[in-house]
Amino acid sequence: MQLFIEKDYSAMSKKAAQIFADEIRQKPNLVLGLATGGTPVGTYQELIRKHNEESLDFSKVVTFNLDEYYGLTPDNSQSYNYYMFENLFNHVNIQKENAHMPDGRASDIKTYCKKYDNQIEKSGGIDLQLLGIGVNGHIGFNEPAEELVVGTHITDLTQDTIKANSRFFDSADQVPTKAITMGIGSIMKAKKIMLLASGKGKAEIMAKLLNNNLVTTKTPASLLMLHQNVMIIMDEEAASKLKNL
Ligand code: F6R
Repeated sequence: MQLFIEKDYSAMSKKAAQIFADEIRQKPNLVLGLATGGTPVGTYQELIRKHNEESLDFSKVVTFNLDEYYGLTPDNSQSYNYYMFENLFNHVNIQKENAHMPDGRASDIKTYCKKYDNQIEKSGGIDLQLLGIGVNGHIGFNEPAEELVVGTHITDLTQDTIKANSRFFDSADQVPTKAITMGIGSIMKAKKIMLLASGKGKAEIMAKLLNNNLVTTKTPASLLMLHQNVMIIMDEEAASKLKNL
């Protein structure tokens, strides 16, 4: 595992975007796994800047998003589909047919999820997977549990997650209670994984993850410690409770 501690959110975002850009330049048809939420916004802004000012080319890049709220249509401004277009896809030269996102309207969920995993596999698998982390240690919407699901699936969101995500909605009761998410296996199959964490609110979970040297499905992100190629990029606030640095 590689650990980078950057001064602040802006430095973390620049570091992450630089790694993305280097990978895309090395392999123009890179397959990216992407995340939403507050954390990657700065990384996406920096990637857009690199596209505009440094000719970073997304024309062959393929993307798969981690998750989507169940029941939200792509034109709903709270959906992750909408978020991706607003925060990245509308501003770079990605081919829209190469940008894959779980469909919150899918009806035959089991078949749909299988198809999503097959699409990832057919594309050659994810080269670089971007992740944020929930305050409860979730990655994607793989919430703390006795058992974790391997492939893409529908899941109930925990109260912790609903509370944390209510900041993007008018009130907590508007946050969908279910989501479609890549499973822990879909994430772990990525060739490289980059986890970002920023701010004091993530200090506790990052300390739990990195101080204890333990793996448990009750902190789904801890399973990343078993992956061969993980980078964690965090800012000083998120790193403020780490020991033995
Ligand atoms: C989003 C996702 C979630 C978030 C996590 C952190 O696609 O999969 O796991 O990465 O909830 O969210 P923020 O960045 O808003 O703190």
